[in-house]
Amino acid sequence: MKIAISGKGGVGKTTISALIARYLSDSGYKVLAIDADPAMNLPGQIGIKMDEEKKIKPLSSMKEFIEERTGAKRGEYGGFFKMNPKVDDIPDTYSLTFDRIKVLVLGSINKGGGGCFCPENVLLKNLLSYILIERDEWVVVDMDAGLEHLGRGTAKYVDRLIVVVEPGIQSIKTALRIKELAKDLDIGSVSLIANKISKEEDLVFVKENAPNIPILGYLSLDERIRDSDRLGLSPYDADAKIREEIASIVNSMIRPQ
Ligand SMILES: Nc1ncnc2c1ncn2[C@@H]1O[C@H](COP(=O)(O)OP(=O)(O)O)[C@@H](O)[C@H]1O
Ligand SMILES: [Mg+2]
Repeated sequence: MKIAISGKGGVGKTTISALIARYLSDSGYKVLAIDADPAMNLPGQIGIKMDEEKKIKPLSSMKEFIEERTGAKRGEYGGFFKMNPKVDDIPDTYSLTFDRIKVLVLGSINKGGGGCFCPENVLLKNLLSYILIERDEWVVVDMDAGLEHLGRGTAKYVDRLIVVVEPGIQSIKTALRIKELAKDLDIGSVSLIANKISKEEDLVFVKENAPNIPILGYLSLDERIRDSDRLGLSPYDADAKIREEIASIVNSMIRPQ
């Protein structure tokens, strides 16, 4: 299954992407975890140590590599370059590994000018198409609210778009906007994960304000999640209750009620 995680900044996209990847890995699945959020902290949340993490650069910043693959010349970005660069070796060569998880850090899409056809965007989008269409492991993409990495034609290979919300109106407004974007991109299934839930009313608030999007599950507000973020540890290793909640979320994806 290929899933993408989106939502307003700070709602817990990276936390939840990392938890899902770790749970799937623990359950015996191979996982490709894609960091497509400009904040780029997925490797650390998965549990990859800082010194290990420092060994890789986001693909979007690897200028020479991008030039080599696309044939683009520096300073000549108006010129010709390949629209179908070789990408199939990238997930295995340029990723970090943790248990059964491979983590690939993409970096952000260049938004310069409407519909910018920069070589780095072409490479990233081709890579994501390849991953979504061809790879046979679980794919979890941590993205921002704009869904910029998904081209038309590629997005429909996302089996599930999961929008993370917290019990506040701003993140729900963002979720409703993302649902519209998803419709334009032809993504079939959009659902919510309610994060930072501390009481029954929090869930009710989410349900009442987003009545048309199904809720896949919830994750409680838990200071150990924030603490592990601060300490550079994975929230997955923090507590059994966190693992149980994420298990229930993933199981409702695998076995929809
Ligand atoms: N359920 C939770 N309980 C407590 N803190 C959380 C929870 N989920 C996320 N956080 C904290 O909120 C902050 C933002 O989370 P993050 O996953 O980085 O958000 P995003 O990727 O959406 O910007 C982090 O400090 C994280 O540890
Ligand atoms: Mg993030």
